[in-house]
Amino acid sequence: MDLTNCFIFFLLLTSLYFALTRKTPPKKHPPGSMGFPLIGQTLSFLHAMRTNSIEQWLLQRTSKYGPVSKLSLFGTPTVFVHGQSANKFIFTCDGNVLGNHQPPSFKRICGERNMTALIGDDHKRVRGALVSFLKPEMLKQYVGKMDEEVRNHVEMHWHGNQKVMVMPLMKTLTFNIMSSLIFGIGKGETRNNLIELLQHMMNGLMSLPINLLFTRFNRSLKASAQLRAFIKNLISERKAALEQRVADTRKDLIACLLGIGKTEPSIRMSDEEIVDNVIGVMIAGYDTSSVLITFLVRLLGMDRSVYDKIVQEQEKIAKTKTSELLSWDDLAKMKYTWRVAMETLRMNPPLLGSLRKVLKDFEYEGYTIPKGWQVIWAANMTHMDGRIFSDPSKFDPARFEKQASIPPYCFVAFGGGARICPGNEFARIETLVTIHYLVTRFKWKLCCLDNSFSRNPFPVFSDGMLIEIEPKDC
Ligand code: HEM
Repeated sequence: MDLTNCFIFFLLLTSLYFALTRKTPPKKHPPGSMGFPLIGQTLSFLHAMRTNSIEQWLLQRTSKYGPVSKLSLFGTPTVFVHGQSANKFIFTCDGNVLGNHQPPSFKRICGERNMTALIGDDHKRVRGALVSFLKPEMLKQYVGKMDEEVRNHVEMHWHGNQKVMVMPLMKTLTFNIMSSLIFGIGKGETRNNLIELLQHMMNGLMSLPINLLFTRFNRSLKASAQLRAFIKNLISERKAALEQRVADTRKDLIACLLGIGKTEPSIRMSDEEIVDNVIGVMIAGYDTSSVLITFLVRLLGMDRSVYDKIVQEQEKIAKTKTSELLSWDDLAKMKYTWRVAMETLRMNPPLLGSLRKVLKDFEYEGYTIPKGWQVIWAANMTHMDGRIFSDPSKFDPARFEKQASIPPYCFVAFGGGARICPGNEFARIETLVTIHYLVTRFKWKLCCLDNSFSRNPFPVFSDGMLIEIEPKDC
């Protein structure tokens, strides 16, 4: 071997050595700062939510760091992603890689078996059971019940008043509708006690999980225990009534869940699961629909042309409906009203986004997102993207004339994929029935034009959204 060959051989050997012993390059995390230990960006995030400047806050992040960035929220390293492909990624990601994520207090209050805490087959089974009640074919038969609730509400809280505070009233209304359909409980003392319990329970959902006397979390746990005892009692009552055939599985959500799995025991729900999920549904449906209806009332108080068009549509239905109560077919005719509701959801999604927990390391857009981190998505970032919704700050219900023309994973007020809101049809029915009776019976104007709101995490109007109402001659 001459000197040149020796040299080449030496070079090959050393390259081979370096190739074999080279350490894997460090994992690349997305750009962004983690801020101060533990606190991270939590305080500025909460401040932006409270002052309703979260959109600007998120926009600043994306202009500084791009579409994927890291930060630290609630003591956990977090990745913020947004846009159509990010939404698609989150909503369709394997449940073993990205799991649903709620603050620790949430699980303690709602129970370990509530649907939002479940993953994989367990999630599918429990979700399937709830959907059997929340699907349109089932809800069709409850339109009359919702109609009665809305009419009672309007008689009791709107007629005879000159001013009403819309937000608290809409919460009472959505609670009453749910207590009728979910618990099978009509108006009266029990309902009043239940709404108080629910509110106490919900006050602690976002609190620090410190179970000491007089903490918010402690009050919330106590309310949750009382509510659970109440639901357990209802379960026993329904079981007895179903056995004696004095009630059927269509009576309410509890009866429906008890009827599942008669022929297929593997999909049966335990009593504990029913309790946790009844509570979960109450929480999920309470603030969301009431917020949507409040925003609609606000819009109709500000935009005369939209109000007039909705009145025209609803009065035509009022004149042509075949029975005193609204029917499923009447709701199908409320096309313009629902487009206005969708546009309202686009511009003001009640749920701004949510968190997912990283259960396994994964790669996204060339970055490694490690196990134990959390991922946050935000609906408003796609809803206000001019490349998807042209002139996004303009209120234009015509965008929803052809729903198929909206690209997938771009309108995400109800989420998407395996966890898409199973209550969207329920929300549609209660919203349409409520707007029908409000616009056919009243005109209104806002008492304060600057009715700004904060987010906690749902929108809250500082004046409760006070309006002056004038009854129409019916
Ligand atoms: C305008 C009204 C509503 C809006 C905007 C809304 C929005 C959402 C969103 C965005 C999600 C997905 C959250 C995520 O992916 O992390 C969700 C989930 C959920 N919603 Fe709704 N919701 C509404 C009304 C309702 C109602 C009325 C009910 C029940 C009657 C309900 C029950 C649920 C449940 C149980 C989940 C959890 C689903 C799962 O984890 O698989 N929602 N909702």
